Amino acid sequence: MKKFLPDEAATTAFGKELLDALPEDLAGWTVLLNGDLGAGKSTLARALIKAAGHTGAVPSPTYTLVEPYRLSRGNIYHVDLYRVSSADELRYLGWNELDDGCRIVEWPDRAPGLIEQADLSITLSYEGEGRTVELFPLSDRAKAVADALARDKVTGTE
Ligand SMILES: Nc1ncnc2c1ncn2[C@@H]1O[C@H](COP(=O)(O)OP(=O)(O)O)[C@@H](O)[C@H]1O
Ligand SMILES: [Mg+2]
Repeated sequence: MKKFLPDEAATTAFGKELLDALPEDLAGWTVLLNGDLGAGKSTLARALIKAAGHTGAVPSPTYTLVEPYRLSRGNIYHVDLYRVSSADELRYLGWNELDDGCRIVEWPDRAPGLIEQADLSITLSYEGEGRTVELFPLSDRAKAVADALARDKVTGTE
């Protein structure tokens, strides 16, 4: 599933669509956000967190590694692994304790093996002035989410 996002507003709208397609209880979900610097990973994460009801700022977790949000649909953990270089480091930062919520992970390839635990892998790419978003479901429940998005909102399937 692939969609062109012409501007930041489109990325934000897609974040809301994605949240709407996810189940009411977000606990235990892991969503990976891939893409180069500036591709829109944080923009998408911020949109999703705000769509889930968070009203304050959504600071980048580049230095803190994890920013937690306690929301009505459950906890969301915004994770940025840019500064992480191994699966061991991931454990030290308390990754395993984040399974009571939804983990949204930027730079997931910094921690090898993460993809095996993930539900959904999302890749954002530069395309002209805009971006392209691609969804790769990794679990059966994520496939249902991707199907719902493709059915309801998304044009330009692949
Ligand atoms: N679909 C889009 N088209 C053009 N620019 C976008 C789009 N989505 C987001 N942007 C812009 O691109 C930048 C993305 O930054 P950010 O979300 O921090 O990227 P990342 O976290 O991937 O490094 C922001 O300046 C944002 O305004
Ligand atoms: Mg970022």
